[in-house]
Amino acid sequence: MRLVLLGLPGCGKGTQARLLVERLGLTYIGTGDILRDAIARGTEMGREVAPLMERGLLVPDHRVNDVVAELFRGESRPEKFVTDGYPRTYAQAISFDALLRLEHLDLTHVILLTISDDEVVRRMLARGREDDNEDTIRRRLNEFHKNNDTLVEHYTRCGVLREIPAVGAVEDIHANIVRALGAK
Ligand code: AP5
Repeated sequence: MRLVLLGLPGCGKGTQARLLVERLGLTYIGTGDILRDAIARGTEMGREVAPLMERGLLVPDHRVNDVVAELFRGESRPEKFVTDGYPRTYAQAISFDALLRLEHLDLTHVILLTISDDEVVRRMLARGREDDNEDTIRRRLNEFHKNNDTLVEHYTRCGVLREIPAVGAVEDIHANIVRALGAK
C-alpha cells in the first residue's frame, strides 16, 4: 500500500498516519517532521527553512522534493508508505509521480481528510506547537487553499482519491480510512 494523506494543516494527518503505520506496517514520510529535525540539528537546510516555517509559508518545492527523493535512494527505500504533508503543491505531485515511476512504485490511494478552517484553528491552538499561533495558522491555511484544488483535480484524474470527513473520534476516522483503503 502506498498512500498520500491530504488535508488542511491540523486536520489530523499526522494522527491518522501514525495509526496506519502501526496497523499496516507502513513507512511514515512526514516532510514537516524532517524539516523540523533539520532545524533542530542546525543544518544548512534547517537554517534556510526555519524563517519560512515560522511564518507559515511553504518551503521551496525543490527542497522538499530532494528530501523525499533522498528517502528512496539506497537500501532502506520504502515500498509501503504513508505520506503526511507531501505533496503539497502541484509541482511536488508531479515530481513525486516521476520519482515513483522511476522506482516502479505507483500510488495506490490518496485520502483527502475534510474539515473546516475554524475547527483546525481550534485544534492547533489547543496543541501549541511552535508554529501554532493564530497568524501563522491562518497563513498555513491560505497556503493550503491556494494549492489544494489542483492537487485534488490531479489525483481525481489519476483515479486514486477518496474523501473522508476528519471530524469526530480519532478511532472512527481511522476505521473509515481503513475501510476506504480496503485494508484489514
Ligand atoms: P507540517 O508539519 O506538515 O504541518 P501541517 O500540514 O501544518 O499539519 P500539522 O502537523 O499541523 O497537522 P496534521 O494535519 O498532521 O494534524 P495533527 O495530527 O497534528 O508542516 C509544517 C510546515 O512545514 C509547513 O507550514 C511548511 O512550512 C513546511 N512544510 C512541510 N511539508 C512541506 C511541503 N511538502 N512543502 C512545502 N513546505 C512544507 O492534529 C492536529 C491536532 O488535532 C493535534 O493536537 C491532534 O491531537 C488533534 N486531533 C487530531 N485528530 C483529531 C480529532 N479527530 N478530533 C479532535 N482533535 C484531533
